[in-house]
Amino acid sequence: MAKILHPDKVSIAQAVRLLAAGKPIGLPTETVYGLAGDATNDEAILAIYHAKSRPSFDPLIVHVEPGISSFADLVSLDLVDPDALEPRRIHQIDQLITEFWPGPMTLILPKHRKVSDLITSGLPMVGIRMPDHPVAQAVLKSFGRPLAAPSANRFGRISPTSALDVEAELGTLIDLILDGGPCERGVESTVIGVGESGGFNLLRPGSLAAEAVEALLGEKLRIPSAASSAASPGTLDSHYAPGKKFLLLPKPVSDMIATDWDALGIAAGTDVSLLIPCGYVDQSTLEKLPLRVIEYRQLSPEGSEEEASHNLFRAVRELDAGPGELILCEPVARDGGLWIAIRDRLTRATKRL
Ligand code: TXA
Ligand code: MG
Repeated sequence: MAKILHPDKVSIAQAVRLLAAGKPIGLPTETVYGLAGDATNDEAILAIYHAKSRPSFDPLIVHVEPGISSFADLVSLDLVDPDALEPRRIHQIDQLITEFWPGPMTLILPKHRKVSDLITSGLPMVGIRMPDHPVAQAVLKSFGRPLAAPSANRFGRISPTSALDVEAELGTLIDLILDGGPCERGVESTVIGVGESGGFNLLRPGSLAAEAVEALLGEKLRIPSAASSAASPGTLDSHYAPGKKFLLLPKPVSDMIATDWDALGIAAGTDVSLLIPCGYVDQSTLEKLPLRVIEYRQLSPEGSEEEASHNLFRAVRELDAGPGELILCEPVARDGGLWIAIRDRLTRATKRL
């Protein structure tokens, strides 16, 4: 069973010893907890895939320590290919790095030949990010090599946002989890790829708003079509699923009081849990529903996107562990910014009712 340790000099030294021995550890970042292993050791990479039961076609993100401030720095770490991109693109990448690292932005760049094909699932590109979390940074500095780290959940499940979540997911499979408290952002990084015909692609919406990236670049990010989603193999339709039935409502519950729930396959009187991504529902509305809402979570009653994303995975985990027979989710009424990532995760985690 994994030990959960408060991060200090002694526990970080222990983490580094495990990493040097090729063993993955649970590591906090500002987005979600990662399952981190030595990016230069194929055995460590295989151990990550094995622990997560992750298919080998889904590549891993490489995490780098603070201090890297340009594409050239990534070249000098043998992570990216110096010759694959034009100077104009490299300049744009330098701008992105300067502005958004450390932080929740993963860049998909042409890989250096020394980057293991196991990390990139055989793709010619590698995902890289610099986490904005003191514990992740301390481990990276002390270890002195980049760390491959996917989210520390079993494949297809919700990302963990606390050390206890990591224990619940992978506790029997790893030796150590560093406890950095709850993750501030709560949703994974935004994944941005270099497009083949110029421009940049938004491969996964995340904790960095796409609008901020677009403002810096002075151009729109492209959204690759589903057909070309081999570009980001991890963005599978069904992902982030909790254990219980998790259903996306067509409208807010306040508009569903007269709905024939039986016809929707939910018998009157069923004990349900309710997730409200944005805003709040008052008690009198809940009482008028023909269902028994025995538990609910409001991600942000005031409608703050930061608060809603911080609470998202925590709330789904809590409702999944709670007494409701199934979980109902209101549609995300807001758009833009972090709401795009929130809607993306909820759409993947739920089935439409
Ligand atoms: O916030 C995060 O990004 C967290 C923390 C731990 O850093 N990590 C994370 O990793 O979410 P993971 O493995 O759960 O998701 C990585 C995503 C996947 O959708 C994967 O397909 C994509 O990034 N990705 C990684 N490398 C890629 C590559 N070379 N080409 C295209 N997509 C890639
Ligand atoms: Mg993941």
